[in-house]
Amino acid sequence: MFCKSLSVVSSLVRHSVVISTARNMSNGRPLVYVTRSDMPQGGLDLLRKVCDVRIWAKPSQVPRNELLKGVVGASGIFCALTEKIDKELLDAAGPQLKVVGTISVGHDHIDLAECRKRNIRIGYTPDVLTDATAELTLALLLATSRRIPEAIHEARTGGWAASGAWAPVWLTGPGLANSTVGIVGFGRIGQAVARRVKAFGTAQILYTSRADNRRAKETGAIRADFDDILKKSDFIICCTALVPETKEMFNKAAFEKMKRTAVFVNTSRGGTVDQNALIGALQNNTIWGAGLDVTTPEPLPLDSPLFKLKNCVVLPHIGSATIETRNVMSELTARNILAALAGSEMPAEIK
Ligand code: GLV
Repeated sequence: MFCKSLSVVSSLVRHSVVISTARNMSNGRPLVYVTRSDMPQGGLDLLRKVCDVRIWAKPSQVPRNELLKGVVGASGIFCALTEKIDKELLDAAGPQLKVVGTISVGHDHIDLAECRKRNIRIGYTPDVLTDATAELTLALLLATSRRIPEAIHEARTGGWAASGAWAPVWLTGPGLANSTVGIVGFGRIGQAVARRVKAFGTAQILYTSRADNRRAKETGAIRADFDDILKKSDFIICCTALVPETKEMFNKAAFEKMKRTAVFVNTSRGGTVDQNALIGALQNNTIWGAGLDVTTPEPLPLDSPLFKLKNCVVLPHIGSATIETRNVMSELTARNILAALAGSEMPAEIK
């Protein structure tokens, strides 16, 4: 039975080398713990062909104490960015744990060093979510600059119907055409955002990167340092991963360098922003507005001042949330886990 399982793993991951995996159950099939019952089906179906799958029963975030119980004895964990994968959790799972697959490209919720120490491999989902996240970035930018949530509210609640409300300057905001857009973090998503903003007739696209990016030529984007981007850009878009060097890089000093007319957009991680400094900058009109798909913490508490500000649009972390993308992410997460369990090369491994 176990051999049959492994041969299915092999064909699934299209690799012939099968080494070994932990036998968790009496039937010899490896056990994979999945942290949500509403993970897109494609990945779960792939896992079930080969593994015993234990799933948190509710379509909601698994409470930490249940998570710690659920992972006991698992060879693989299929998680989302809502689960902290740290020493405590790895200890709870046990020494047979071989792989953690996250259905996300970001991996700041996983203690990589601790996993490496234990030879636990880590799978993630780069590339497949680039287009969806870039699309959402543009949607959020335009929702903020063109004041779409405010406009919908006015239309629905009678503001528009009120006599004399409509006026040439009513609900106006800065246009993207002829503007300078600064992209902080020019990886896959930053580049995809650049291609899209270019289509809006921007005057200039600036980006930060350690070196000139050869793909920047496609959009005519120019490398600039962070300070230059802050000073020159009409729209500043944060697409950088959260790592120690980028933590709270958008702080009070950064917002003060921006134009008073600037729109700040963040679709990376809330941790790249000093949120209190951003709240101050929006309250004092140091900048024009902000669109945030990511905050600290998540979910953002209802009493957050960000929800009270008209010049701020907050979304509940939906960057990659297209139906197709989430399905592909689920399948890739499963293929990562299956490959690691088979001792094969993973389609997308964090090394
Ligand atoms: C979303 O934020 C992701 O990391 O996939």
